[in-house]
Amino acid sequence: MSEYIETLVEDKILKIKINRADKKNALDLAMYQSLADAVKGADSDNNIRVSMITGVDDSFCSGNDIKDFLKNPPTDDSSPVLQFVRALINAEKPIIAAVNGISVGIGVTMLLHCDLVYASEDARFQMPFVNIGLCPEAGSTHILPLLMGHRLASELLLLGAMFDVNKAMEVGIVNKKLASTELENISLEAASRIAAQPPHATKTTKKLLRAALHEQILAASQRENDSFMPMLNGAEAKEALTAFMEKRAPDFSKF
Ligand code: COA
Repeated sequence: MSEYIETLVEDKILKIKINRADKKNALDLAMYQSLADAVKGADSDNNIRVSMITGVDDSFCSGNDIKDFLKNPPTDDSSPVLQFVRALINAEKPIIAAVNGISVGIGVTMLLHCDLVYASEDARFQMPFVNIGLCPEAGSTHILPLLMGHRLASELLLLGAMFDVNKAMEVGIVNKKLASTELENISLEAASRIAAQPPHATKTTKKLLRAALHEQILAASQRENDSFMPMLNGAEAKEALTAFMEKRAPDFSKF
């Protein structure tokens, strides 16, 4: 288990906390593996009926650790990154996200697989895949146009700009905006209500809600991976990721 992923089972709720404040909760490989194990483990644990994921400090998750992208890029389906994405797509029990701040990259695309998403009033969201020479992942190129239409999905993905919680609600990524002081309690309240519901009915309903899209999302995720992995080794991503590490603006003029 990564020291930065804290898990606790209480009252049939699996509480997952991303706790790496100094890097804005960026995910390295060990963290992805712990998250994948936690999500998969919840499905086979009779003591868990629902999971709740949150971050610490001012961040929910700033996406893939950029240094790790350069050092340990995913090379095949066994990568912890892809294991986590598959665990989310295949999850049988409900997952609630309590988005406590900045949410970037996988920090946003994981929300598309959560069943309820609550966010604090200061939460900010960004899917900057194109900005860093990559393409989107986690089936988001399929889910986002269905959720909000082609035009809005293109805006969020091609411009790759930050957007606030009001926009996230408007486009269907977030259920409800909450005061930061209320976020944890209200998210836990929802988790407790789900934990008290009949578990077979809950799981069956989640499965039925996702049934028509499940195969399509898996296929989209595979298509995205086929592009993503070579792009990560490409010159555009190298320039963008190196620029981030060197704290300078990237220069794409030569491509
Ligand atoms: N990977 C690795 N380190 C990251 C990171 C990431 N995804 N996001 C933030 N950090 C690190 C910064 O390098 C910095 O480290 P340092 O103190 O050692 O210099 C620290 O976290 C604080 O980040 P900073 O950029 O100073 O905070 P901010 O509040 O100004 O901005 C973000 C926060 C998340 C908007 C900004 O850090 C960012 O854009 N991060 C990259 C996000 C990204 O592209 N993720 C991949 C998406 S696919």
